[in-house]
Amino acid sequence: MKKEIIIQFVLYMIFFLSGCTKSSTGTIQPGVIWNDIEGNPINAHGGGVLYHEGTYYWYGECKAGETTLLPGQNWECYRTNVSGVSCYSSKDLVNWKFEGLVLKAIPDDIHSDLHPSKVLERPKVIFNSKTGKFVMWMHIDSADYSKACAGIAISDTPTGEFKYLGSHRPLGAMSRDQTVFADDDGRAYHLFSSEDNATLYIAELTDDYLGHKETYTRNFINKFREAPAIFKTNNKYVLITSGCSAWDPNEAEYAVADSVLGNWTVMSNPCTGKDADKTFYGQSTFVLPVAGKTNTYIAMFDKWEKTDLETSGYIWLPVTLSRDNIEIPWKDEWTIEIEY
Ligand code: GAL
Repeated sequence: MKKEIIIQFVLYMIFFLSGCTKSSTGTIQPGVIWNDIEGNPINAHGGGVLYHEGTYYWYGECKAGETTLLPGQNWECYRTNVSGVSCYSSKDLVNWKFEGLVLKAIPDDIHSDLHPSKVLERPKVIFNSKTGKFVMWMHIDSADYSKACAGIAISDTPTGEFKYLGSHRPLGAMSRDQTVFADDDGRAYHLFSSEDNATLYIAELTDDYLGHKETYTRNFINKFREAPAIFKTNNKYVLITSGCSAWDPNEAEYAVADSVLGNWTVMSNPCTGKDADKTFYGQSTFVLPVAGKTNTYIAMFDKWEKTDLETSGYIWLPVTLSRDNIEIPWKDEWTIEIEY
């Protein structure tokens, strides 16, 4: 009898603990050096975050080594050699574990898109539930940014290694700053600055997310918007963009639409508070919906240090929503509570 009670108690505890959710409250300090759990500064610039099966994965440009200025350009073409795309994982959005370079540079092939002498920027990963593949889209360019292509890589797991499939100009159009967005109906879209950055294209991806359908729209024509970061809330799409001033900060702007493909209604600068007219010295890269929470979004910006790009930082701020309006107020510090 006693033995049965003990067995019952053990089974109850196993059942209880396995169903238990943990919660954590962490502090985010926008613009302050953010270390991973091993104490190294997080190196994932121009990035985005994918939530998959209880874990967040942060992908971004690994900017390592010396920053140099490419000679002969009529703009400040500061660069670091390409080393690849880094990935960090986290359950609580505050403590990040470095998962390694999930797409690596190819130093021994000068013709490869992934050769260190090229440009690889703004990688974003989405998961295709039909094919079971993780699909990465990124900006691929020559050192002087004249190639203006989009690159694709795929993997069976979120932490790679991703297989590079090549690059091209989507729909024959130039593609530089970019993001991808998977809607809740399974359709996915590629948003990219085109026509020499003058116009933002939004194109629907094929069902496997590896190519483009013929459906696309030209948005903000001749407005020179880049650094697109999109999210969906209350059945509206919200798109934050920056102006076009290379690594230097400028004023952000957001627009809203009933469909990803537009028409987009331009609203205003979503940033408020200290240095809001310069996006807090940052530039948009992604808006992260916090899993399991209604209407909870984090706006992610890069704080570029153009003469030492490796030391560029991150500004993560909560988005405040009211009807069709959004606001991103500056905060020196804020807390995030996550259940997992
Ligand atoms: C920015 C762009 C960055 C990078 C940079 C190069 O405007 O958003 O991703 O391309 O120009 O100067």
